[in-house]
Amino acid sequence: MKKSTMLVAVAMLLSCSIGAKAQKFDHLADTPAMGWNSWNKYQCNISEDLIKGIVDAMVSTGLKDAGYQYVNLDDGWHGQRDADGFIQCDAKKFPEGIKGLSDYAHSKGLKLGIYSCCGKLTCAGYSASLGHEYQDALQYARWGIDYLKEDWCYCENVNPKGAYALMRDALHDAGRPIYFSLCEWGSNKPWEWAKDTGHSWRTTGDIQCNWKSVMTILDKNKVLRKYAGPGHWNDPDMLEVGNGMSVNEDRAHFTMWCMMSAPLILGNEIRNMKPETAAILLNKDVIALDQDKLGVQGMMFSSVENVEYWVKPLADGDWAFCILNRNEQPQKCGIDWRMFDFKDEVSGCATNLQTKVYTLRNLWTKKMEGTTKRVKTVVVPAHDVLVYRMTEKK
Ligand code: GAL
Repeated sequence: MKKSTMLVAVAMLLSCSIGAKAQKFDHLADTPAMGWNSWNKYQCNISEDLIKGIVDAMVSTGLKDAGYQYVNLDDGWHGQRDADGFIQCDAKKFPEGIKGLSDYAHSKGLKLGIYSCCGKLTCAGYSASLGHEYQDALQYARWGIDYLKEDWCYCENVNPKGAYALMRDALHDAGRPIYFSLCEWGSNKPWEWAKDTGHSWRTTGDIQCNWKSVMTILDKNKVLRKYAGPGHWNDPDMLEVGNGMSVNEDRAHFTMWCMMSAPLILGNEIRNMKPETAAILLNKDVIALDQDKLGVQGMMFSSVENVEYWVKPLADGDWAFCILNRNEQPQKCGIDWRMFDFKDEVSGCATNLQTKVYTLRNLWTKKMEGTTKRVKTVVVPAHDVLVYRMTEKK
């Protein structure tokens, strides 16, 4: 080969490899992810029987039809690495292997997720991905995995931006579209750098099943709304609905996660849910706020005496309007709609409440409750919400 031809060939090769820059997979999270994860209820006590039972329940309860599609293993599925360094599952917990499980989930129209960590070990002490990123990504792809949550334990001296980009690149090269969920608890402000790395990033430490924890997380997550959007979401952690809070608190928790366009990853025992838990998780009108195509995280518009007024613009010109009562007593609220005439700087959407009249549909009672024409007085129970879908009256 002539020297000049060779130079051109080298230059082409270089530009090709630069041009083929690894990216996260597109369109896996045009709306926030919906599914179930084993951690909140089961920690490391997971098994093939449990997960298959959850897959079955996702179908039989109607959760799948309501949009929940991922069944995610969290910490504790791991066995040892083989002689070549490839991770294996715990064969006692998962006798048919992870591929068997993903085949099962796929056969029911669902997807399977898995969990690892950027450090040497997972938070519970199992073998994690540091130094094995490409092997792990390859193994997940071979197993038919659809979602990876990557945690942040045992990460001394690891650069978070680099560590998560490395796994993104490894997933890309493994070739199977896998949703990438960053879980470094908001420690390094991932909302500022992870838009092109992952599909969602945790914004806080772990949720606990109590009102205080849910409200603390809400406050941390709500100030980050400008960073969220289709393909890249703030993740205020998995749901605790059905795990022991009151029905009012569960309803408020679920509604606020939907108002904030959060991933809806269930954390409860779905094989024998109480009817009131199922009614919350299956409320398609509230889920629709979360899954709205516009993808704008809702905002707290104002707050008076521990009562918060939230709004969220929706793709069809509707608005979600929500009152959150954080008090331990019911609260009477007079809503003067003209006060909510504003333009949202993040989305550019305006309510025009001085000139437009909207009808009000209560998304929990399913009743029409008049219009925004005149001041409305409502009572919101303690630790509960009232949520309307506002549609312009033609
Ligand atoms: C935490 C993570 C939890 C859960 C747990 C497993 O760091 O935030 O959601 O995955 O590790 O050990």
